[in-house]
Amino acid sequence: MSLPIFLLWLVSIPFLAHSAPSQPRGTLVSCGSSTKQSIPDTSLSYIPDDGFINVGNKTTLESNDLLPILSTLRYFPQKSARKYCYTFQVIRGGKYLVRTIYFYGGFDGGKQPPVFDQIIGGTKWSVVNTTEDYANGMSSYYEIIIGAHAKTLSVCVARSNQTAANSSPFISAIEVLSLEDSMYNSTDFRTEALVAVARSAFGNEDSISFPDDPYYRLWQPFTDKNEVVSTQTSVSSSDFWNKPPEKAFSKAIAAGVGKKLEIQWPSGSLQSTRYYVSLYFQDNRAASANSWRVFSVAVNGKTFYNNLNVSTGGVTIYSAEWPLSGPTKITLTPDAKSSAGPLINAGEVYQILPFGTRTLAKDVAVMEELARNLDNPPLDWVGDPCLPQENSWTGVSCSIKDTVARIISLDLTNAGISGTLPLTIDNLSTLHHLWLGGNKLSGSIPEMNSLLKLETLYVL
Ligand SMILES: *[C@@H]1O[C@H](CO)[C@@H](O)[C@H](O)[C@H]1NC(C)=O
Ligand SMILES: *[C@@H]1O[C@H](CO)[C@@H](O)[C@H](O)[C@H]1NC(C)=O
Ligand SMILES: *[C@@H]1O[C@H](CO)[C@@H](O)[C@H](O)[C@H]1NC(C)=O
Ligand SMILES: *[C@@H]1O[C@H](CO)[C@@H](O)[C@H](O)[C@H]1NC(C)=O
Ligand SMILES: *[C@@H]1O[C@H](CO)[C@@H](O)[C@H](O)[C@H]1NC(C)=O
Ligand SMILES: *[C@@H]1O[C@H](CO)[C@@H](O)[C@H](O)[C@H]1NC(C)=O
Repeated sequence: MSLPIFLLWLVSIPFLAHSAPSQPRGTLVSCGSSTKQSIPDTSLSYIPDDGFINVGNKTTLESNDLLPILSTLRYFPQKSARKYCYTFQVIRGGKYLVRTIYFYGGFDGGKQPPVFDQIIGGTKWSVVNTTEDYANGMSSYYEIIIGAHAKTLSVCVARSNQTAANSSPFISAIEVLSLEDSMYNSTDFRTEALVAVARSAFGNEDSISFPDDPYYRLWQPFTDKNEVVSTQTSVSSSDFWNKPPEKAFSKAIAAGVGKKLEIQWPSGSLQSTRYYVSLYFQDNRAASANSWRVFSVAVNGKTFYNNLNVSTGGVTIYSAEWPLSGPTKITLTPDAKSSAGPLINAGEVYQILPFGTRTLAKDVAVMEELARNLDNPPLDWVGDPCLPQENSWTGVSCSIKDTVARIISLDLTNAGISGTLPLTIDNLSTLHHLWLGGNKLSGSIPEMNSLLKLETLYVL
C-alpha cells in the first residue's frame, strides 16, 4: 500500500481534543535518524532506531518538504549478514499491528529501489518491492497483525535472490502498535498472522488515522462511481470487537431503493489463498421504527451474508477464512421489501499467513546468551536463530520438525570471534557438531554432559 511522501501526508488529522491520547500504545521508530522526529500537525513522535538494531548505516535524503520520518533511512551494505534485524520488547501473548515503511529516495545514487525480503519472527512476511510506488512519487508501507510468542519480537529485512548484487536493503520507519484482545479474535494468532491487503473507508476522501483510530490503523479513502452518503447519527466504536473508528462510519457509498450496489474492491488482483474479510455498515438515516435497510452481501457471486438488517447503531459481518483469487467484486442486493437501498461504510481484507514455526525457546535462550558472551558475534545473530531457513544465523544449522526448529550444529571456524562460552551451552540438547576452531575464545570450556547427541567437537 502506498502513501504520499510530502508533508500533507495525514491531511485529515484534526486538532487534538483534550481527551484524545497523544501517542498510540506502542513504539514508533524512525530508522536512520539520530533525533526524535514528529509528524507535523500531529502529536505523533518517532524515536531514533539506535537502541533496536546493531547493524546497518544511516543516511539522510536531500529533499525539501519530505515527511521527516521518510527523510532518514537505514541501509544494509554488510553483505555477509543473512538478515538485518530490529528487536522490540513486547508482551508475550499480546497482539500487535506491525507496519514497515519504505521510501527509497535514490539514497544510493541509483534510479531503481532494491527489491528484498522482510521477515517477522522466524517467518518470511513478504517481498519488499517499492518500484511502482517510487515511480509514482509515493512511499510504500506493509502491515501485519501478529501475536507475540515471546518477550521480544524481531522485524528484519534480508537480501534475496531478487536483490541486485550492488544494492542494499533499506528501511525508513517501523511502527509496533498494541491492539486489544477482542480485535480480529476469530484468528488463531498462535498459528496464523494477518497481512493487510486493504483497509478502506468508503465514500471518504481523506485517509483516517490517529487519533481518530487510536490504534493508528490507516483507513484509506475509497470512492468510485457510486453515490456517497453522509450519516446522521454516530456509532460507538466500542460496540465492535475490531474497534473501527467512528469516523469510518461518517460516509458510505450507496445505491438507490431497489438497486444493487457493486464495488470492485479491494482493487488489483489477489493471490489465490485464504483471506480474513470484515465489512462494516450503518444505516445513515435518522432512526425510524418502521423503515428497514435490508440487503444480502455476495463476494465474487458467492453469498457472504443473507438479509443483513442494517441499523443506525451499525453492524459488522466477517469471515475468518474466505478464499479469494484475482479481482474481487462485492455485490449488495436489496431485499424486495427494504425501504432503502444498500450501502457500505468500511471494510478490511487480510491475507492469512501461516505463522508460528520458530526455534525452540530454550535453544534461542542459549544462543542469545552465547551472542552476549562473544565480543563480536556475527552481525546476523539477532532474531530467530534457525528461521527462515535461508536466513538462519551464520554458522547455525537446524532441523525442523512440525513447527519447531532445533539447533543441530554450530560452525564458527575462523570467524574471528573472541569472548567466552556460556555454561548454558550444555542445554543445546540436539547439538551434533560444534566447530569453534581458529578463534580467540578465552575462559574454560563448559561441561557438555547433557549433549548426548554430540559427535564432533572442535573448540581450539
Ligand atoms: C557503513 O558503516 C561502517 C562503519 O559503521 C563503515 O565502515 C562503512 O564504510 C559504511 N559503509 C558505507 C557503504 O558507507
Ligand atoms: C518489482 O515491481 C515492478 C513493478 O511492479 C516489477 O516490474 C518488477 O518486476 C518487480 N521486481 C521484482 C524483482 O520482483
Ligand atoms: C529464489 O529463492 C527462492 C527461495 O528463497 C526460491 O524458491 C527460488 O527458486 C529462487 N529463484 C531463483 C531464480 O533462484
Ligand atoms: C472476541 O472478543 C469478544 C469481545 O471481548 C468476545 O465476546 C468473543 O467471545 C471473542 N471471540 C473469540 C473467538 O474469542
Ligand atoms: C430489522 O430490525 C428491526 C429492529 O432493529 C426489526 O424491527 C425489523 O423487523 C427487522 N427487519 C427485518 C426485515 O428483518
Ligand atoms: C538448562 O535449562 C534449564 C531449564 O530448562 C535451566 O534450569 C538450567 O539452568 C539450564 N542449564 C544451564 C547450564 O544453563
